[in-house]
Amino acid sequence: MSREQLRQYLTFYQDLGVKNIYKRSATSAAAAAAPAPAPSAEPSIVLPPIAPADDTLAKIIADIGDCRRCRLCEQRNKIVFGSGNEQSRLVFVGEGPGADEDEQGLPFVGRAGQLLTQMIDGTAAKEGIPIKRADVYICNVVKCRPPENRTPQPDEMEICGEFLFRQLMTIRPKAICALGSTAAKALLATKDGVTRLRGKWHKWQEIPLMVTYHPSYLLRPYNQDAKREAWEDLKKVLHFVYD
Ligand code: URA
Repeated sequence: MSREQLRQYLTFYQDLGVKNIYKRSATSAAAAAAPAPAPSAEPSIVLPPIAPADDTLAKIIADIGDCRRCRLCEQRNKIVFGSGNEQSRLVFVGEGPGADEDEQGLPFVGRAGQLLTQMIDGTAAKEGIPIKRADVYICNVVKCRPPENRTPQPDEMEICGEFLFRQLMTIRPKAICALGSTAAKALLATKDGVTRLRGKWHKWQEIPLMVTYHPSYLLRPYNQDAKREAWEDLKKVLHFVYD
């Protein structure tokens, strides 16, 4: 591996929030392939390929295939890759599919999705920006539904993060909007919560990134102040991208 490739790997993992990378020894790799691997004291991960220069969304889908790389495959119905305009200047990243998304194979089609659609369409219309939800691209950190809609675990985020990384590198939008803390953690090497991160510009691989509340959080009746803040965040994003 060249120095430059190594540097890219390390930046990639830093962006995913990974702090320690252990090189797999031949023995531990063999143990991992055995039917009942012995628990290892050191976490070890396999380095995924860096986004190829001529990557496309179709290639990423083909590489995901009938994915069995993590436990989320066990209960999923459909893999939810992403939807929308593949040349969009704006990408929204959520956490992971819920029940409706798992059934349809499309992101943000349930209640939270309806709110997200209203937020995008409503804010754009109010601000005189001629776009609709179909004009942006929407995807998630993990592509398979976590059981009972639990938060994705770090190893699941790390494994699926390879595909999110490639998706974002391929689309190369003008801005990214991270919805909620899972997306923020996956894209920014931070432990800070959404309240702290929201409303300000951050960067992912030199692309401006805004963090805002996840629509599911906004559906809770006691979070009405957050709703107003999320509209403010979205206004900023839309003006930045489309003005
Ligand atoms: N919540 C998410 O984070 N993503 C979806 O696709 C749906 C709900």
